[in-house]
Amino acid sequence: TFIHSPRDDACKLDICEKGAIGVNSEGVIEFVERNIEELSPVLEKYPAFSDATIVTASPKGNQFFFPGFIDTHIHAPQYPNAGVFGSSTLLDWLNKYTFPRESSLSSLSVARTVYSRCVARTLAHGTTTAAYYATIHVPATNLLADICSSAGQRAFVGRVCMDHKDINPEYYRDESADESIANTCLCIDHIKKIDPNYELVSPIITPRFAPSCTAEALEKLGKLVKETNLPCQTHISENRNEIQLVKKLFPEYDSYAEVYDAFGLLTPKMILGHAIHLSNKEMELIRSRKAKISHCPASNSALTSGGARVRWLLNSGITVGLGTDVSGGYSPSMLEAVRSTALVSRHVAMTDGEECKLSVEEALYLGTRGGAKVVHLEDKIGGFEVGMEWDAQLIGLELVEKEENDKEEFADDEVVDKVVFDGPKGAGPVDVFGWESWDDRVAKWVYNGDDRNTLMVWGIILYKSTMLSTVARRSAL
Ligand code: GUN
Ligand code: FE
Repeated sequence: TFIHSPRDDACKLDICEKGAIGVNSEGVIEFVERNIEELSPVLEKYPAFSDATIVTASPKGNQFFFPGFIDTHIHAPQYPNAGVFGSSTLLDWLNKYTFPRESSLSSLSVARTVYSRCVARTLAHGTTTAAYYATIHVPATNLLADICSSAGQRAFVGRVCMDHKDINPEYYRDESADESIANTCLCIDHIKKIDPNYELVSPIITPRFAPSCTAEALEKLGKLVKETNLPCQTHISENRNEIQLVKKLFPEYDSYAEVYDAFGLLTPKMILGHAIHLSNKEMELIRSRKAKISHCPASNSALTSGGARVRWLLNSGITVGLGTDVSGGYSPSMLEAVRSTALVSRHVAMTDGEECKLSVEEALYLGTRGGAKVVHLEDKIGGFEVGMEWDAQLIGLELVEKEENDKEEFADDEVVDKVVFDGPKGAGPVDVFGWESWDDRVAKWVYNGDDRNTLMVWGIILYKSTMLSTVARRSAL
């Protein structure tokens, strides 16, 4: 069984129970066959695959292939802080938890530990592509690119720029706009060396957020975006105090979005994190510039930033993907981001109306196809079609086998037997009883699953099928 979102329909899942997908030695899908009873006619039809390795999902209805997740907003250096945020809100949180943690990556050995754990853990959760914010440190940022490259995780790696002396602490900032640009360029050069065509790892220009940058830095970064045509990422309209700060720092502009636009940063290649408190005018501006939005529901809840109006953004025609935003977000799991997308939309619905609810299908679409559009890879990843990459995970749910001796009465010790959990079976925390439709099983996975349900993970370039999953899972354990 393989399951994915149709390319242009977020409201349903395409569920193919008896499918076969042929992947060539480049990791590209060569055929997708549906409704097949046996494999042999398929192998006859595609003789090049006659001695292909065959990976089969259990036919019992408890396993399926699903596209890899795309995390469009994650701070790798904050990974050790995941879950640690107390009762803080954004600006306090940055100073109390985040800047001290990020500054510790001036040590390359700290960076090695943190980044290898972060990449291993996100892979174990089925994240095959991630847009990473790193730190201001060039050696550590380059190391993150190296780690993604060797682990086989597709990544956008951004060295954060933050040169504003009134906002950023003395112990953690760029000393000038020129330093922001020069160090960004050093990181671009490094990635050019390890991956000249940015096939797996690409630089991404990263002004942290408007308040952290001087107008000079924003202007120079805007020019760099134009010269290089590289993607760009930042935060926007996450928190009300942050918005006030932007007003104070950039009084000549009418809105937060206009600040970015004034410096040439609102382009189709811009990924805007959060976008919670946008005005109609800002939304129109973002749409007209075709900039993309990364919705980070777990973070928005944890830091009490607000509930982003995703239905409104989608109805407006803006492209939206999902981000974990570790460690504003408490979990590196994209399944958690999917789950909290559905939940937060229900909270928005309680005040704005029923139509704001996002279904499981829509949330999964945003975590795969939506994310692929955000990073301009919709022709490569996010679904299973001929010509796309085999970028996938095998999901397994625990099948509760029916008892051999069905009876209505049990001895006391039999009752106890039933409630003693007999150790991990390796199929995660989701029980499937057999009556569920595929939609039900997927919903159970979304609401109850975790990385134990991600049995295998495949990425591209090194085409590491089981090997990638073994690497990811071994380090996760
Ligand atoms: N705004 C500026 N920096 C950050 C960050 O690291 N995380 C979040 N969530 N918002 C930010
Ligand atoms: Fe963030």
